Amino acid sequence: MTEQFSKKNEGWSGRFSEPVSALVQRYTGSVFFDQRLAVFDIQGSLAHAEMLAHVGLITAQDLQDIERGLEQIREEIQAGQFQWSLDLEDVHLNIEKRLTDLIGDAGKRLHTARSRNDQVATDIRLWVRHTIDELHQALGALKTALLDQADQHAETIMPGFTHLQVAQPVTLGHHLLAYVEMFSRDETRLADCRRRANVLPLGAAALAGTSYPIDRARVAKTLGFDGVCQNSLDAVSDRDFAIEFTACCALIMTHISRFSEELILWMTPRVGFIDLADRFCTGSSIMPQKKNPDVPELARGKSGRVYGHLMALLTLMKGQPLAYNKDNQEDKEPLFDAADTALDTLRIFADMVAGIQVKKDVMRSAAFEGYSTATDLADYLVKKGLPFRDAHEAVARAVKAGVGSGKDLSEFSLTELQVFSALIGPDVFDVLRVEGSVAARSHIGGTAPDQVRSQIQRHRNGS
Ligand code: ARG
Repeated sequence: MTEQFSKKNEGWSGRFSEPVSALVQRYTGSVFFDQRLAVFDIQGSLAHAEMLAHVGLITAQDLQDIERGLEQIREEIQAGQFQWSLDLEDVHLNIEKRLTDLIGDAGKRLHTARSRNDQVATDIRLWVRHTIDELHQALGALKTALLDQADQHAETIMPGFTHLQVAQPVTLGHHLLAYVEMFSRDETRLADCRRRANVLPLGAAALAGTSYPIDRARVAKTLGFDGVCQNSLDAVSDRDFAIEFTACCALIMTHISRFSEELILWMTPRVGFIDLADRFCTGSSIMPQKKNPDVPELARGKSGRVYGHLMALLTLMKGQPLAYNKDNQEDKEPLFDAADTALDTLRIFADMVAGIQVKKDVMRSAAFEGYSTATDLADYLVKKGLPFRDAHEAVARAVKAGVGSGKDLSEFSLTELQVFSALIGPDVFDVLRVEGSVAARSHIGGTAPDQVRSQIQRHRNGS
């Protein structure tokens, strides 16, 4: 009994007189998922130990031993040789125990002026910061792929839709740049989240601070934080940054999901605008002819799980009194999975976008369906002096005649068009052509090819 007890209450055994059951041990343990924080835990411990030595709370020899021990542990973990133990509950206790086994008493001094509460808060902030930097890279790669496609298709005509009905012609380059805007906002949102995450909780200890003469600013500087958390109770219990981070991932997935929906529609043979490379698709086990856009479908589906993680974290925090509560241990799995999902998705999409095959002719002829240049005709009449409402009415009658005779506006002869307004002259055909229609929208944010090119330039310059 005693032996079992000392095993299962390793970190605090003196206070307890019975062991936890195996089920409770599994229920309360986090080592299976928080071990991925190990590198950040070691990074935080090294900075903490350096400060302890600097202010004289441990000796220079202790520090040397701690540094050597933690380095060995880092190598063991990297090599997959580290023995993780559920008896030691979480990543922090596992590493501390191993350190003590390796270097003796100096290992036991590392936890001076520190609690797992400020330790874990620090680890997660370091992890979030690192992961934001990875997401930035992945967003950048996806944007580059979109910009390359937009460049190739600055003049490619496609129908623009509202209500999923053909509305006005646009360029494919312009359409793709809409997603570049979304992913650019995701970058700035993450940068903003990073600023709030990048402050140091260490020093808050369990909740109230510590009576040791610590130097928090020094630890912050070593770890590359912009400053320290200003209230110890908030420092150990705040997970706003985790929620913000997950919200950033959720919005990334929203953008990915919208794009996926379009790719799926564009690839259906009824639309036939694009083809995706085979390596992003699978076949059917029963229908030999099928090529299914699995990757965008899964991405659309996975957006739901990231939204779920955001909701889980919001709910996790809403009922917690100050300061640290064990509830917080539940922050990790949603956070990790939200990040993994967003990162994998962005990386796959960068590759997939680069390989999109565009069927220009199909796109172009679809732009003629639905009288997409009707607004251009109305604008033409306005420029000839007709009030917009009258122009709108004249064009509506022309479209009605077109529907009746199965003709596009550009297929009417000049005399046929003049029936709807005497103001119509031979120059009308410039505006009725889809190329004329897109070229005319040449202002900042418009669909004209020259605007698409200057937007691509702006994005490439990073402004
Ligand atoms: N595994 C814990 C977590 O993830 C570490 C902090 C535990 N603190 C405590 N007082 N039990 O939050």
